[in-house]
Amino acid sequence: MVLKWGGFSFGLVIGVSFILSISEVCNGGITSTFVRNKDLANDMPLDSDVFKVPPGYNAPQQVHITQGDYLGKGVIISWVTPDEPGSNLVHYWAENSKVKSSAESIVLTYKYYNYTSGYIHHCTIKDLKYDTKYYYEVGIGNSSRQFWFRTPPEVGPDLPYTFGLIGDLGQTHDSNRTLTHYELNPTKGQTILFVGDLSYADAYPNHDNTRWDTWGRFIERIAAYQPWIWTAGNHEIDFLPDIGEDIPFKPYIHRYHVPYKASGSTSPLWYSIKRASAHIIVLSSYSAFGMYTPQYKWLQAEFEKVNRTETPWLVVLMHSPFYSSYVHHYMEGETMRVMYESFFVEYKVDVVFAGHVHAYERSERISNIAYNVVNGLCTPVRDPSAPVYITIGDGGNLEGLVTEMTEPQPSYSAYREASFGHGIFDIKNRTHAYFGWHRNQDGYAVEADSLWLHNRYWSVSEESYVA
Ligand SMILES: [Fe+2]
Repeated sequence: MVLKWGGFSFGLVIGVSFILSISEVCNGGITSTFVRNKDLANDMPLDSDVFKVPPGYNAPQQVHITQGDYLGKGVIISWVTPDEPGSNLVHYWAENSKVKSSAESIVLTYKYYNYTSGYIHHCTIKDLKYDTKYYYEVGIGNSSRQFWFRTPPEVGPDLPYTFGLIGDLGQTHDSNRTLTHYELNPTKGQTILFVGDLSYADAYPNHDNTRWDTWGRFIERIAAYQPWIWTAGNHEIDFLPDIGEDIPFKPYIHRYHVPYKASGSTSPLWYSIKRASAHIIVLSSYSAFGMYTPQYKWLQAEFEKVNRTETPWLVVLMHSPFYSSYVHHYMEGETMRVMYESFFVEYKVDVVFAGHVHAYERSERISNIAYNVVNGLCTPVRDPSAPVYITIGDGGNLEGLVTEMTEPQPSYSAYREASFGHGIFDIKNRTHAYFGWHRNQDGYAVEADSLWLHNRYWSVSEESYVA
């Protein structure tokens, strides 16, 4: 039944009100009006249980793993011992196997102003069996600790595989909620793609590096069991020449090793891996990326190596987004966009994940590569060969959310919302993948935004936006 009110259709009024409530007047997609607490969250106190030092003399702490080679048969296991170097060995064995193997780590330390690190161990184990659960043990005697991980299946085109997406995490109660939501998500992520800005230790006087240690202990509950694929953000630069710290990325590079040489890179700040049915390229927003630079030359060569028959899904991770319609950090990714966007279209990148902006946003498939300075064609246009750009810098750090948005919402912006959360990129087969964004205030299974991604190489049909 339609009620008449003042000459208008009541049903029509309700409908218009509903549309206005989910989408403020704009030219673009949806600007969510979800109401949230805008208070800044402090970092969790040093005596929080999530930062607890494991018991026992010199017990390994801050245990974390990442992929250790190009194809997924390798793993890098890292940990810190606080008192002395201790044992360099990792003992590991496949589930249902009695044969124990061991591998040796390297040990590093570094100083940062008046801080001296613990003994940072990195152990690369290669030639593991695919799709196999391994247990591993670090430390000795009463202080030894045991964990496990599962290797990915052998690289191939139709393998389902599930990645989690987290960015700009920090170590507040909101950060803790993000990790808990990821852990309890019924769609279980197998590997985390982390889009930069880890500990936010640089928020403290002289970039107090003890906050790098607390962060390492905080994430261990996930990072010891599944690989985190690392991207460097601006909070990893730790460049403070006034106190003599003039080597950019020093704490990050000492603590978080990645298999960059396996992909022919000359820097741990940009590299790539193949994992299951995905080819994942990691870029550095804060390293030289112009023509002729090492990053540019490497990226050009890497795109040439991508084989979509083997890895249908082509994913790029970076920290500073190319497309963001939030006011904060507006257009900071523009110079890299000018240099690299035409590659992304030429090689049909499926999706680009970025952080930096402390909010969530998803773009339409658009490109802005026609402009040649004199032709005036400087507006993004629909482009079926272009990636979807997803900003997911909403891990929950102490700087809080960015809520101010450019108005009206640009037409390339499909959905934007300033809430903390995480994403799940769930590859089903060579043609379809499902992306869901989970805001922290919702139940564990709720997706605040989602879409089916159609592979750009294998299926270019129209995509269906679910949210
Ligand atoms: Fe950032």
